[in-house]
Amino acid sequence: MAPSKSIKYLLFIYIATSLFYATFHVIQLNQNAPNTHTGSQHKSGRIAPRSTEDDYTTTLEQFPIMVDDNLAHRQQYDSDDVLVSKAFSTAMSNEVQPYYYRAKHTFPAEDITISTLVTQNRFAVLSRLASHYRGPISAAIHVTNDTHMQNVMDDLDQIVKNNTDMQQFVDIHLIVDKQDRQFNMWRNVARMFARTEYIMMLDVDFHLCTDPRTSLEKYPDLKQRLREGNAAIVVPAFEFVNQEDGEDWHQFPTTKKELISSKHDDKIDMFHRTWTRGHGSTNYSHWYDATQPYKVTDYNYSYEPYVIVRKHKETPWCPERFVGYGANKAACLYEIYLSGIEYWVLPQDFLIHQTHHYPEETRSKERQYNRKLYTFYREEICVRYARKMKANGEWDTSKADNLKKECSKISGFSKTLDKMDTTT
Ligand SMILES: *[C@@H]1O[C@H](CO)[C@@H](O)[C@H](O)[C@H]1NC(C)=O
Ligand SMILES: *[C@@H]1O[C@H](CO)[C@@H](O)[C@H](O)[C@H]1NC(C)=O
Ligand SMILES: *[C@@H]1O[C@H](CO)[C@@H](O)[C@H](O)[C@H]1NC(C)=O
Ligand SMILES: *[C@@H]1O[C@H](CO)[C@@H](O)[C@H](O)[C@H]1NC(C)=O
Repeated sequence: MAPSKSIKYLLFIYIATSLFYATFHVIQLNQNAPNTHTGSQHKSGRIAPRSTEDDYTTTLEQFPIMVDDNLAHRQQYDSDDVLVSKAFSTAMSNEVQPYYYRAKHTFPAEDITISTLVTQNRFAVLSRLASHYRGPISAAIHVTNDTHMQNVMDDLDQIVKNNTDMQQFVDIHLIVDKQDRQFNMWRNVARMFARTEYIMMLDVDFHLCTDPRTSLEKYPDLKQRLREGNAAIVVPAFEFVNQEDGEDWHQFPTTKKELISSKHDDKIDMFHRTWTRGHGSTNYSHWYDATQPYKVTDYNYSYEPYVIVRKHKETPWCPERFVGYGANKAACLYEIYLSGIEYWVLPQDFLIHQTHHYPEETRSKERQYNRKLYTFYREEICVRYARKMKANGEWDTSKADNLKKECSKISGFSKTLDKMDTTT
């Protein structure tokens, strides 16, 4: 009895001592840790000493220099490479070359950059947009790394050389990989490297019939909401009823009056009128009579308007898990809405879809898959933002209104909330 007891006792002492020693050691290490930032005291070799040039404050803003083929910047490129890979770590690949072409003209920070995705068959459309908008454009271009790659690069080169407005106004960021249709990742690339405070997320096929940049100046209250990051500003989208009428943008209406007259003749209607969930929340019947900006009150989780938002970090990024057709843009706008950002519609501005004749396969499998994914995703986002808002003391503020309204539609969500309250 006695011997085994003393063995247990010794064992206890041993464990206690080693625990104490280990803990002490860890604390000591932590206390020493800051030194590793300034010197090379660590002999272990696990934490490499940093050279004085190597600065942890490296930001993606510094990316522009990496296009210089300048060896002095090589190291910069490597650390930025890691940042990019983390930035797009949920994407299926992340081979990004920002500022492959860099616009010569710089714009004030308060300006609005059109943030868009462009495929090879839309290069000419992008070029037209550059000449029409004459403002900052940030375009993400995906290039499939295969035998056609050189051909695509030559085309791009041609289109840039051929139009000085492309050179003046358009930043082009390349995504070179074999993953097609990672739309949300491409959207994020275009946004990330936009060089102004505000971006307009636009499909390049849409023609800007008016100039939202100047219109916005007429509504200082709305501008203020945008500046505070509380508003996403919707520019209503339309299309021609007969697709052939939408081929030549020179014929498009340029005023709301003309547009309404075309609407009365049933020549033009809301975009995707056969699928009202996509744009219906804009409330077109309200818009026709509106003279002031108004707030979207009948939000739908399939709503996918074209919006101007603040670029800053409080605006959620597009979820990159959505690859391929279906739900990708809606998911992007859902998270923006849930985060507490309100949708406000501009009363005089509008976009019209330009008809194009590119072969467009129906990808119903992708749509089906993404629809399912979107259902899971909405639930996840509701829980994530609810926790975040509770933790940050925002739950009882108006910031949580959108979430409370929308997430209550998810079955079981209120139960989850109750559990959250008892565990935190
Ligand atoms: C394209 O892919 C090949 C291998 O398939 C690779 O060696 C090459 O570096 C890639 N090019 C780019 C620009 O990513
Ligand atoms: C070059 O631009 C002109 C008009 O400025 C256009 O007619 C022509 O098709 C363009 N060429 C290419 C290769 O894009
Ligand atoms: C929004 O979605 C609901 C179903 O959740 C539907 O009943 C309603 O008509 C939709 N509203 C619009 C404007 O499409
Ligand atoms: C849309 O606007 C009309 C006209 O202002 C209004 O009567 C209607 O209630 C609105 N619809 C929704 C769903 O808010």
